Amino acid sequence: WERPDGRPFRQRLLVVANRLPVSAVRRSEESWSLEMSAGGLVTALLGVKEFEARWIGWAGVNVPDEAGQRTLTKALAEKKCIPVFLDEDIVHQYYNGYCNNILWPLFHYIGLPQEDRLATTRSFQSQFAAYKKANQMFANVVHQHYEEGDVVWCHDYHLMFLPKCLKDRNSQMKVGWFLHTPFPSPEIHRTLPSRSELLHAVLAADLVGFHTYDYARHFVSACTRILGLEGTPEGVEDQGRLTRVAAFPIGIDSDRFIRALEVPQVQEHIRELKERFAGRKVMLGVDRLDMIKGIPQKILAFEKFLEENPIWRDKVVLVQIAVPTRTDVPEYQKLTSQVHEIVRRINGRFGTLSAVPIHHLVNLLLYLSLLNLQDVYTCLIRYFPARWIICKEEENNILTTDRSLDFHGLCALYAVTDIALVTSLRDGMNLVSYEFVACQDSKKGVLILSEFAGAAQSLGAGAILVNPWNITEVAASIGQALNMSAEEREKRHRHNFVHVTNHTAQEWAETFVSWGDWASHGIPNSWDE
Ligand code: ADP
Ligand code: G6P
Repeated sequence: WERPDGRPFRQRLLVVANRLPVSAVRRSEESWSLEMSAGGLVTALLGVKEFEARWIGWAGVNVPDEAGQRTLTKALAEKKCIPVFLDEDIVHQYYNGYCNNILWPLFHYIGLPQEDRLATTRSFQSQFAAYKKANQMFANVVHQHYEEGDVVWCHDYHLMFLPKCLKDRNSQMKVGWFLHTPFPSPEIHRTLPSRSELLHAVLAADLVGFHTYDYARHFVSACTRILGLEGTPEGVEDQGRLTRVAAFPIGIDSDRFIRALEVPQVQEHIRELKERFAGRKVMLGVDRLDMIKGIPQKILAFEKFLEENPIWRDKVVLVQIAVPTRTDVPEYQKLTSQVHEIVRRINGRFGTLSAVPIHHLVNLLLYLSLLNLQDVYTCLIRYFPARWIICKEEENNILTTDRSLDFHGLCALYAVTDIALVTSLRDGMNLVSYEFVACQDSKKGVLILSEFAGAAQSLGAGAILVNPWNITEVAASIGQALNMSAEEREKRHRHNFVHVTNHTAQEWAETFVSWGDWASHGIPNSWDE
């Protein structure tokens, strides 16, 4: 808990999130590979450098045997991570069930599962019980590692019960909770059978944070309307105890992206991609393959654009990177086949022998195959020896990979893009839009951004804002972006670039944690609608 020069850090943090920044894959009895986890929560928290933090979470894998748990714990300790081991049944009921089939769709306005309502109602109780049990397991690990003076920062919808579990055992602990998704209107939240219990559990925290003022206001309204508590300018009061509530818009480590563009390997990728797409404008989507990202809507809007603008047909390409996610949840499986089906149809309709309009790629490594066929081979050669060499060097036989190749590939792709398309139907913030802006200082491409992403509130003035449900409007915005003058692109980009480089992940964490001194900082006067 000291800096390399021996000075103590200003604040020690225990970060608790369902997902660790690395996910483990078992290679053999005692051998693990650690791969970077995807998602905005991980990206943002990795950008927080100035605190001495330990990260407590699930490594994304079931490890039933003690020997395996020991070796994995040791490997993770090197990354300052502490695992919470969840068995298969808990993962099924808590993560796939309550978190991703109930809370996630509800918080993104998709609502509770519609199909087989009775079955949903029946399984609801057991999933909620598993959710509470899993939260208690996280709390137990926190208690094992907690030292007096630590700030415990809980994250996201997976851990709404955690503040209560922590405070029940130690009321002196400083506990903050931050939600990375939208918090929906109380009219939506009140449909949740466990609505009150969850709100009470969150209110056990000292500070509760959201990406935007609207989400914070929804939360306070839910507490006043559903629990009958009093909303004050600073938060929510329950029997004389105040839980502070405020908006803390997240950011990225923008310097990391800007610096990456100088790396020779990235410049080489940029050169190759420019050659590959010469004569065509590049449009880009980077999303987890999630129903909230509006991927089918985006692709249909692109189809409409091609339909109405034949002169652009061989002059524009859409690269859609879709990272597989939560693949055990049926809704996600359906989405995957739906997207594949639409892409196949459109490529069949507008593709020629030499080019297809949509490159739909399931991960970043595959995107390298865009370069040309021979490069698929080259990139495999580049990738696997790197892993193999690391494996050989590791004494404890822990194979560690990082995302450097993918990260560099992603930066290169952002840099050559003319138009980024973010069409989320709802999104807490959306950091892909921030990353695109950070990589565009020489190209000054256009960001088309859903008005339902939290980022619309910060990047709205520089982006073209769209309603992703309105395919005609999105198609028209593609035309507008392609025809935009250089001056206008420059002006819009400047606005966004200043925001992204000034409001970083570090600043976000600093603000949250110093609010964690639980001092009052000009919080709005009223939470009323
Ligand atoms: P969400 O958190 O819903 O996934 P965001 O847009 O906020 O949405 O964040 C997505 C994050 O995941 C971005 O930081 C993006 O760079 C990252 N990402 C995208 N593809 C990959 C990948 N293949 N591996 C790891 N991270 C990825
Ligand atoms: C969103 C959530 C995160 C989550 C990420 C990836 O960003 O807010 O909590 O980690 O998606 O999803 P996964 O289910 O793979 O952790």
